[in-house]
Amino acid sequence: MNVTLHVWRQPSERAAGRFVTYRADDVSPDASFLEMLDVVNERLSERGEEPIAFSHDCREGICGSCAMMINGVAHGPERGAATCQLHMRSFKDGAEVYVEPWRARAFPVIKDLVVDRRALDRIIEAGGFITAPTGGARDANAILIPKPDVDTAMDAAACIGCGACVAACPNGSASLFTAAKITHLGLLPQGQPERSRRVLRMVAQMDAEHFGHCTFYGECQEACPKLISIDTIVRMNRDYVRASLRARAEHAPSEGSG
Ligand code: SF4
Ligand code: FES
Repeated sequence: MNVTLHVWRQPSERAAGRFVTYRADDVSPDASFLEMLDVVNERLSERGEEPIAFSHDCREGICGSCAMMINGVAHGPERGAATCQLHMRSFKDGAEVYVEPWRARAFPVIKDLVVDRRALDRIIEAGGFITAPTGGARDANAILIPKPDVDTAMDAAACIGCGACVAACPNGSASLFTAAKITHLGLLPQGQPERSRRVLRMVAQMDAEHFGHCTFYGECQEACPKLISIDTIVRMNRDYVRASLRARAEHAPSEGSG
């Protein structure tokens, strides 16, 4: 099959960017989208031109690196799949395909399709560690957890930190990502000692990184390659309110003092 690509080329963060058109001819419908870009890059290199910069690592939907907008959709047209899991058979022969980096204030473009997503790492870092006793690991069967909690925690833990939720959100909010990270520890016994502190710190860091606020457009869960539900945001907001009230009560002057 043959496709025409319009790819965002931007040499550096501060340089102006523009779409450049390339032909991708004789592409196998079974090739992945990234394999198609590899072939385009090989041809560019052979002609002595600068290859298209894009992030990738696992190519199995695990690492979250392959962040790009394809025809205006984060990770392209296949629901529940990262760009590396997208195949060319998802496009019609002769299709015009626009490829752009994530567009969000908190994700500056480094080069072409590569953006700086370290703001997400700093949100995780703000959450800190969990309290865990040293020594031999406890038998997992000794810690009983209700099945619905395990399932919800594991669904949230599937987040690969790709940032598609931010790119898809009209507000540029990182609420789905942050809520997924908060939910997966907040439902497990191991996550309880720091639960309140974690949600307060991670939400504060999310705001400090200039992500937008969530107004429940729901675009994030549509774009998420791991199909993480917007319900996690509801859970995060509930935890945040409880933690804020608890912190206020702890710092309020006690009755009769002063
Ligand atoms: S919540 Fe989904 S879209 Fe957002 S970073 Fe995690 S995996 Fe990516
Ligand atoms: S390259 Fe790792 S998720 Fe796509």
